[in-house]
Amino acid sequence: MRVKKEAGGNLVIWSESPAETEELGKILGGILLPGDLFFLSGDLGSGKTLLVRGVTIGLASTETATSPTFALIHRYEGKLPLYHLDLYRLSGPADLAPLALEEIMEEEAAFMIEWGEPAKATLAATYMEVEFARGEQAEDRVLSFYPVGDRYRQINHLLWQALEKEQTTGK
Ligand SMILES: Nc1ncnc2c1ncn2[C@@H]1O[C@H](COP(=O)(O)OP(=O)(O)O)[C@@H](O)[C@H]1O
Ligand SMILES: [Mg+2]
Repeated sequence: MRVKKEAGGNLVIWSESPAETEELGKILGGILLPGDLFFLSGDLGSGKTLLVRGVTIGLASTETATSPTFALIHRYEGKLPLYHLDLYRLSGPADLAPLALEEIMEEEAAFMIEWGEPAKATLAATYMEVEFARGEQAEDRVLSFYPVGDRYRQINHLLWQALEKEQTTGK
């Protein structure tokens, strides 16, 4: 895993294997607080669910995240409850209302949303946007963390510190 800080507080992280993406999620899980909201964007197979899976490991959840097959929403019980939403099958913003996301978001939990573009405008003014892209090698993934709001700039700072430490201890 390599990490780079960019202007504006963005963080770019290079993952070279599924295990590294999971490890990143695990570290992120140790940083999350109630109310934290992440939007994950990028092609199918770019590693969004695997990152969430790592987060559930980091939160010592009672199950680890997988791609939801039927449900759009799954709640993982752990040190902090985690809501994993995959809105890929949402056919339009009209489908959003029955999900009552605003209500769910009042819970003391963290939230990670795949394909959440239709929900973005209405859910919160501050959040983290994580963009997943593929790199040159089959297992290369580039994760860009774009913080919107102070809390998310803080998360990037904490993440950067934790990853720096890993790099210097040669893990
Ligand atoms: N560096 C990597 N990070 C994450 N996934 C990777 C990586 N390299 C290969 N993969 C593979 O890519 C796929 C990612 O799947 P998934 O996390 O479900 O993607 P998404 O949720 O974005 O559709 C998995 O099959 C995983 O093994
Ligand atoms: Mg997925």
